[in-house]
Amino acid sequence: MNQAVTLSVDRGVALIRIDNPPVNALSPDVIEGLDAALARASDDPSVRAIVVMGAGRTFIAGADIKGLEQLAWGSQSGAPEMHELLQKLEDAPKPVVMAMHGTALGGGLEVAMAGHYRVATPDAQMGQPEVNLGIIPGAEGTQRLPRLVGLEKAIEMCVSGRPLKAPDALSAGLIDGIVEGDLAAGAAAFAVEMASRMEPHPKTRERQDKLPPADALPGMLAAGRDLARKTRRNLEAPLAVVDALEAAATLPFAEGCARERDIFFRLAASEQAKALIHAFFAERGVSKVPGISKDTVATPVSVVGIVGAGTMGGGIAMACANAGIHVRLTDATGVALETGLTTIQKNYDVSVKRGRFTPAMVEERMARISAEVGYEGFDRVDLVVEAVFENLALKKAIAADLDKTIKPGAIIATNTSTLDIDEIASATERPSRVLGLHFFSPANVMRLVEIVRGKSTSAETLATALAVARRLGKVGVVVGNGPGFVGNRMMFPYMYEAQFLVEDGATPQQVDDALTSFGMAMGIFAVDDMAGLDVAWRVRQELNQFAEPGARRPLVADRLCEMGRFGQKTGKGWYVYSEDRKPNADPEVLSLIEQLAVAGGIQRRSFTNEEIIERTIYALVNEGAQVLDEGLALRAADIDVIYTNGYGFPAWRGGPMFYADRVGPGKIYERVSAFHREFGARWAPAPLLARLAQEGTTFKELDRRRAGSLVGASS
Ligand code: 3HC
Repeated sequence: MNQAVTLSVDRGVALIRIDNPPVNALSPDVIEGLDAALARASDDPSVRAIVVMGAGRTFIAGADIKGLEQLAWGSQSGAPEMHELLQKLEDAPKPVVMAMHGTALGGGLEVAMAGHYRVATPDAQMGQPEVNLGIIPGAEGTQRLPRLVGLEKAIEMCVSGRPLKAPDALSAGLIDGIVEGDLAAGAAAFAVEMASRMEPHPKTRERQDKLPPADALPGMLAAGRDLARKTRRNLEAPLAVVDALEAAATLPFAEGCARERDIFFRLAASEQAKALIHAFFAERGVSKVPGISKDTVATPVSVVGIVGAGTMGGGIAMACANAGIHVRLTDATGVALETGLTTIQKNYDVSVKRGRFTPAMVEERMARISAEVGYEGFDRVDLVVEAVFENLALKKAIAADLDKTIKPGAIIATNTSTLDIDEIASATERPSRVLGLHFFSPANVMRLVEIVRGKSTSAETLATALAVARRLGKVGVVVGNGPGFVGNRMMFPYMYEAQFLVEDGATPQQVDDALTSFGMAMGIFAVDDMAGLDVAWRVRQELNQFAEPGARRPLVADRLCEMGRFGQKTGKGWYVYSEDRKPNADPEVLSLIEQLAVAGGIQRRSFTNEEIIERTIYALVNEGAQVLDEGLALRAADIDVIYTNGYGFPAWRGGPMFYADRVGPGKIYERVSAFHREFGARWAPAPLLARLAQEGTTFKELDRRRAGSLVGASS
């Protein structure tokens, strides 16, 4: 044994406890320790039964993903060597009870399934989320899970990666009991009872009763593959996991395990695994911010004030209410508030219809939102999110009013996508307690929040914002204060380039198809139509004031707006929309594009999808490099988190900067330079991109080097 695993014996029950913080991941120490503890407990004549559980907040959250990352990048080690341990657990001469709390995920559930019995606390969750990392279970999970829950349920769990809650796990047959109260004591009592039974203790690998009959198999597999294709578009692992599960139903256990292992190792080395593991750690890295340490005290937030009951304000109110936070909502008029509340109620009704919430849950949430015109009660709020429309003077006036109304330590956050936070902070006497919280629409659904640090924003204010974002179930990324912050700033060259492409001869549909084939959740023209063309129109008018003389400007978008084609909300934009909100190509737009392009002297030609991707995605990458160099993003990985969580960039490509690394900054620099020669200033290569290309290094490596300067920072 070792420090990661301890053994104690009490009244004939051996308690093996795994203690490898933070989440008891299966490091080599844990595996070794478990093996040694199991041997000792098996040999000890005073022991009648064995209980395995996790110390701290959880059972075992899986294999050590750091090891899997090494494996993905070509190391020969990194995959947990579990086969022997699992066999020994299953063959143990005394009943082994796995006692789960927190999460039993991936390798954690695989260990649990090798025990003879499983019990869990009522709130425990268990699942096989490996596909979310681009791999499949690699410790015999695909062979044991269908033997416990049946093939259909196993497919659903492994393809979705979603865990089951204890009550569902009980009805599925994954666990044998739920322990209310003290888990160790309950599991020990259960173990003693099992030991007193005269029957052999069940070995999962020997079970056949839940496996489907041969004639039911093809239908189940076809449905599983269909599910994988439909719900996990572009991902390799969810399809591959069905192959491994098929082996459970068609091959003897040992051969099934060998099949699983082959698939596991093939996928572990794949591009998608590299990208998704990068995305996993990138997301966990965003809370490491210079100047914020474990000692930085976040302000407790129990009441949030929201100014503005429009789409954003309403969505933010729902996000808070869903997280158990009380909301004091205000707007300029009673009518606006009433409309906002009605929309919130309607959105909740949709959630009830979809089975996400019960009517009682909605009632509880609505009761957390109190709405009244004026600032009555704002003296009790800990944080205010101002979410009125994008108008600097208005936002400053509101900030000044709030400053006089709310208590001294409370925070003023402005939900803006473009405006200057320092300017807004200057209207108050508390600039250190002012920051930007850039939510994405719909704010109750989208995971991303850009946390905009002004020049005076304090560490405590940032720490509070990070904690609030986490509580709302969102990923908060700290960004610098510059026009468009990180996400929208990068969006502009990408969007412009797409528009130039259609003027140059592509069609909106072709560009969108190329982008969705690349993996973007939506094409840029469909996004534009959804957001409303008038929004970008207004921003363009502001930006045009700063545009360099002679710079190429999009010809078509303004004209569409002048024609009242604002996108989905007017039924027409780049596309024309049918009743079902599906975009259809509009001949009127195609001829308008051609007419304006020809009048503008543009030589039109056709484009390949590859050219489209280079022109759009490389524009995104080049701007990303610039944003990084200017310090608006702390890390390239932060940009990846922003794009995968807020802009529909495929996580399986890791994010735009990780994608750039995989293509090679050298190659991207070369193409960007060629575009620069062809199209002029707008394609000037970012100096950072040029540096990386010259040094033959990557954005990831740059992050690694810079991590030194983050020493002392932690979440
Ligand atoms: N390996 C290594 N580190 C892990 C880890 C793992 N399996 N799971 C979590 N961590 C680390 C995180 O990186 C983070 O580290 P940090 O504090 O240094 O940033 C810390 O644990 C806490 O993680 P979270 O911030 O995510 O904590 P939460 O409480 O929000 O969530 C969790 C906990 C639900 C366990 C979540 O971390 C999670 O989903 N982890 C991944 C689970 C998973 O995918 N397991 C399968 C692994 S693959 C596998 O098992 C293969 C097998 O089949 C062979």
